[in-house]
Amino acid sequence: MPATVIPIDLARCATMAAASSEDGGRADQGGPVDPPGDGDAPRDAGIDEAGSDVTLAGSGHTARVIAITSGKGGVGKSVISANLGLCMARLGRRVLLVDADLALANLDLMLGMSARMSVREVLENSARIEDVVVEGPLGVHLLPACSGEAQLAEIGGTTRLTLFNAIDRLQQRFDTVIVDTGAGIGSNSTAFAAAAQQTVVVVTPDPTSIADAYAMIKVLSRRCRLERIYLTVNMASTPREAEDVVRRMLDMVHSFLDVSLVPIGFLYRDQTVERSVRGCQPLVTTFPQAPISSSMQALAARLLDEQPPEGSWGGPRLFWRKLMGLDGQELTP
Ligand SMILES: Nc1ncnc2c1ncn2[C@@H]1O[C@H](COP(=O)(O)OP(=O)(O)OP(=O)(O)O)[C@@H](O)[C@H]1O
Ligand SMILES: [Mg+2]
Repeated sequence: MPATVIPIDLARCATMAAASSEDGGRADQGGPVDPPGDGDAPRDAGIDEAGSDVTLAGSGHTARVIAITSGKGGVGKSVISANLGLCMARLGRRVLLVDADLALANLDLMLGMSARMSVREVLENSARIEDVVVEGPLGVHLLPACSGEAQLAEIGGTTRLTLFNAIDRLQQRFDTVIVDTGAGIGSNSTAFAAAAQQTVVVVTPDPTSIADAYAMIKVLSRRCRLERIYLTVNMASTPREAEDVVRRMLDMVHSFLDVSLVPIGFLYRDQTVERSVRGCQPLVTTFPQAPISSSMQALAARLLDEQPPEGSWGGPRLFWRKLMGLDGQELTP
């Protein structure tokens, strides 16, 4: 079945939902404009080989941080993160992908890359983050996770702070950081999801995925105090099915939570995705003509069009500011 671009009625859903939500329609109000140097113009060089600083023109540059998360696992977070990264690179963004499923690396495989080092070396202080980050297709860079290091599955607040600080050091080199979190409401996932400027919850039509997505949104809203969360439906069979999922999510969220849930579109279940994953080939570069690749591109453009809520700019530095909270309390579920 062909994939489609984001249907207009889902976008209308978002507007209606925002207008009817208790927050008075925050999602309709434009947030602050992109900071200088955060536009869509293509940029050159990513990380330079020598590891010396490469700063974007204009000081005060901060990267936009987008977290892709979910309640239930296996809903397509990594597929979406990897391909959004590539699509945003096509739009001229300088993208850093962070594989934040720290103990179960797979973004490298999805990008058809093999990484020599991982986040483990950064946390052990045996390598600089600049040397661990690797360049992949379309100039997208990846901070790889590692495979099977159980102690990284749930790291403590101090270790997380070390990681966030390390990512923070890269913020002058990238204008877009996409964080692929692990599934569920574990503290790693919620910390990354809560600290981003834009947090996208991925859900599928599976009822357990819907229930778990709601649980994730509840944690992000109540405990992490997020004001706006984006929603995308993956693996839909029909537009109607995707719309039903969106409506159910909106109904639940607006009945019980004080958060703007903004649907940004859906993706069909498409065998091309499975072929690309099995072949360790990135979807949008290997199958650029596939309808689902167009859908990914539309999703990327839609997300970049959205302005994060006011006060949410700050680049990766925001990770640790939010992590510690204004009151110094660590944000854990
Ligand atoms: N739109 C789609 N159509 C068909 N298959 C898909 C689609 N999206 C994802 N998949 C399949 O679902 C599987 C899981 O995807 P992925 O690894 O991205 O999920 P995840 O949410 O990152 O999982 P985890 O929670 O374990 O990290 C992959 O094998 C992929 O082939
Ligand atoms: Mg994953």
